Amino acid sequence: MTAAARALRQKASASTTDPALAEFEADVIAGFRKPQKALSPKYLYDEAGSILFEEITDTPEYYPTRTEMSILRERAKEIAALIPEGAAIVEFGSGSSKKARILLQAVGPLSAYVSVDISAEMLVEEAKTLRRDFPGLNVVPVVADFTQGFELPREAADAPVRVGFFPGSTIGNFEPHAAAAFLRNAADILGDGALMIVGADLVKPAGILNAAYNDNQGVTARFNLNLLTRINRELGGNFDPSAFEHHAFFNRERSRIEMHLASLKKQKVRIAGETFDFRMGETIHTECSYKYSIESLAALARGVGWAPVKAWTDRQGLFSIQAFRFDAGTGVRQKNAQ
Ligand SMILES: C[S@@+](CC[C@H](N)C(=O)[O-])C[C@H]1O[C@@H](n2cnc3c(N)ncnc32)[C@H](O)[C@@H]1O
Repeated sequence: MTAAARALRQKASASTTDPALAEFEADVIAGFRKPQKALSPKYLYDEAGSILFEEITDTPEYYPTRTEMSILRERAKEIAALIPEGAAIVEFGSGSSKKARILLQAVGPLSAYVSVDISAEMLVEEAKTLRRDFPGLNVVPVVADFTQGFELPREAADAPVRVGFFPGSTIGNFEPHAAAAFLRNAADILGDGALMIVGADLVKPAGILNAAYNDNQGVTARFNLNLLTRINRELGGNFDPSAFEHHAFFNRERSRIEMHLASLKKQKVRIAGETFDFRMGETIHTECSYKYSIESLAALARGVGWAPVKAWTDRQGLFSIQAFRFDAGTGVRQKNAQ
């Protein structure tokens, strides 16, 4: 963290006793002071955002969820065969846990299923329904930011092996260097010999990608604009959400979808005692979704000690599920080389 960011964090902490809120305020102020205003996509997922994300996954244009689920259903036995009895599955960013359910039906007895998410409300609700639907399963929800270190519950820490599960192409929301840092951090959390099962969206024609992030019903637009409502509610901002518009497009050079909120006019917005000027057309960059190939994700993972084990795709090659195993020897060598 830079000295300026630390000072902002301290200033924000002075106005609230809630550390998560102080962090949100500091990140908004720092992000909106940048020449290209930007905010981490993790802030899209308050309670309303998590519900809207689930709605996005049901839109006809949003192929990733149904494609990933179909690969999981088709390959469940092969994937389950990699997961030894007594293992603990740790899902990073579990959301509705609907993909985990497919795995949980296919695997042998586990010591625990640990669902990790920043969005507490959905996490707690889903843990309740999972316990009801899988009575013998030890379901342990953990509210945490997976970009930071967090303690595994004892049931998972004591398991003979831990299996990370990271579906939903959430890995694509990181800049590539941050995706590598996430995988390295996950290795520290999961330990030597861990397995990691990652769902990653694949590069494809721009038309399919642009449609997926601009659904006709406008659900993705509502998901994006909800960020402004959240800032108003939690940080006392005075955004007029109707004065902003959802923009999403494929940036081919960087192999990523970019999601922005564009100001429809010249305007000023006050948040936490600070005024931010918006030119007409100026945007807040709210999310990236990087698109990988099997090879490019394997190279990124290998660079931080995760050896590719197996990869699966659908017939059209739209989406991939990739399994990696952590080799502490390689990981330590990589860490020391940095
Ligand atoms: C793209 S959704 C995927 C949800 C689910 N895994 C799926 O595949 O349908 C991303 C999920 O990660 C959670 N999330 C995003 N950033 C996070 C962070 N930094 N720490 C923990 N959870 C996060 C969100 O709340 C959301 O549930």
